[in-house]
Amino acid sequence: MTERNKFYITTPIYYVNDKPHIGHAYTTIAADVLARLHRQLGEDTWFLTGTDEHGSKIAQAAEKAGKTPQEFSDEVSAKFSFAWDQLGIAPDDFIRTTEKRHEEAVGIFLEKLKESGKLYEGEYQGLYCVGHEAFIKEADLVDGVCPEHKTKPVQLKEKNWFFKLSDYQNGLLSKIEDDEFKIEPQVRKNEVISFIKQGLEDIAISRPNVKWGIPLPWDKNQTIYVWVDALFNYCSAIGYGKDEGNFNRYWPADIQVMAKDIIKFHCIIWPALLSAAGLPLPKKVFAHGFFTVGGQKISKTIGNVIDPNDWVEKYGADAVRYFLLREVPFGQDGDVSEEKLKGRYNADLANGLGNLFSRVTNMIEQYLQGDVDDFIRSPKDLTSAQEAFFNLDFAGGLAQIWAEIAWANQLIDKAKPWELQKTDPAKVKELLVNLAALLYDIAAKLAPVLPETANKIRSHLEAGKIVKAEPLFRKFE
Ligand code: MSP
Repeated sequence: MTERNKFYITTPIYYVNDKPHIGHAYTTIAADVLARLHRQLGEDTWFLTGTDEHGSKIAQAAEKAGKTPQEFSDEVSAKFSFAWDQLGIAPDDFIRTTEKRHEEAVGIFLEKLKESGKLYEGEYQGLYCVGHEAFIKEADLVDGVCPEHKTKPVQLKEKNWFFKLSDYQNGLLSKIEDDEFKIEPQVRKNEVISFIKQGLEDIAISRPNVKWGIPLPWDKNQTIYVWVDALFNYCSAIGYGKDEGNFNRYWPADIQVMAKDIIKFHCIIWPALLSAAGLPLPKKVFAHGFFTVGGQKISKTIGNVIDPNDWVEKYGADAVRYFLLREVPFGQDGDVSEEKLKGRYNADLANGLGNLFSRVTNMIEQYLQGDVDDFIRSPKDLTSAQEAFFNLDFAGGLAQIWAEIAWANQLIDKAKPWELQKTDPAKVKELLVNLAALLYDIAAKLAPVLPETANKIRSHLEAGKIVKAEPLFRKFE
């Protein structure tokens, strides 16, 4: 027996300071589509997502809500799992950084780093932005505040443990340039390369005054810097330090998906930490773009935060999945809104795919008494649409499938089976059998993106007697 390929895919673990919005949903849907595609191809697939629950940002949000950080994390983390479930996202595991399995693994990892000789004690003085959970440079402030979070950073002077990030500058640069560690798309790769070339400074990996965190194993007065804690989820979840068999089965990750906002952590700090611990680097980081809503940054103050559950309730999970992946080419920034969702829903789903499916099943019932027993269901090789998904070109793959849908609808308009039936029923039969096969094939290709719809189409066509189907998507006025 030949060994199956393995495919390990991750999303960022999301902060639990607030409930999920459409931006978090985007990354997680994309990862779910890739996981479903790789499972469909028979690979040993593992899809991980989860929540990032330690640090000042979460402690402050909990305090504001009048809860303990743990209570608060429990509540918000559950909102993420709930939203993913509603969206038809099916991860193989959901890790929370407050779980014992994670905290223990991080402890083991830190000990390993210390052994590597790459940690040292020092003092740090600087400005800390709680929104970023990172030190920020004076030069990056605008009018004294962090331009992204609009908050004033805190002046800190503390004793920390440091990691010799600077030692990794050249090694990392060559791995990135040679694509041994791939960063896509190219603009993100260039961005990381030019950042590294400016020179890397060592980073503090522990904090003396942050209580809500994992204690440093050898100095319990310090907690582990939340980003180091969080990044390690990708390893702790698959059994680092506990289940080496499982860990080696999946590590290194084949692809880590995220948006462009956190590539410095994932493309510089993370690979350096892994190298220090003697672990292989992920094969690829893919950083997609940022959504705006109604032309503006997603923000509570602006009031344009979209709760994915609201859209799912109204339009259904498949429609939201389709819209987000179709609307904006993966890797680019783009704008989304309910208006745009409704437009695509009516045009592409209700009129395009939905209409084709109703027409074909209706005619099969009417002209063939529901019988297309002999239509071909042979699965094909990876088609070019699937190949596009494979390469994270979701919008491109979907456009190809919708071109087929449009073509099939036109073919029916032209052939006019309702007239042809009177003169040449054999021709009508041939046409409908082919259309049933085409729909079956379209459903297989669409399954990773529209799992519910694909199932409906397939099970409907597999029935002994095909009747006119209920509309897949009801039109919105
Ligand atoms: N907790 C860290 C990640 C730690 S991973 C070891 C974090 N969390 S976050 O909740 O802020 O999530 C950031 C991620 O959410 C982005 O990288 C992206 O995947 C997603 N998005 C958040 N807002 C988004 C948009 N407006 N548009 C697209 N994606 C967005 O950073």
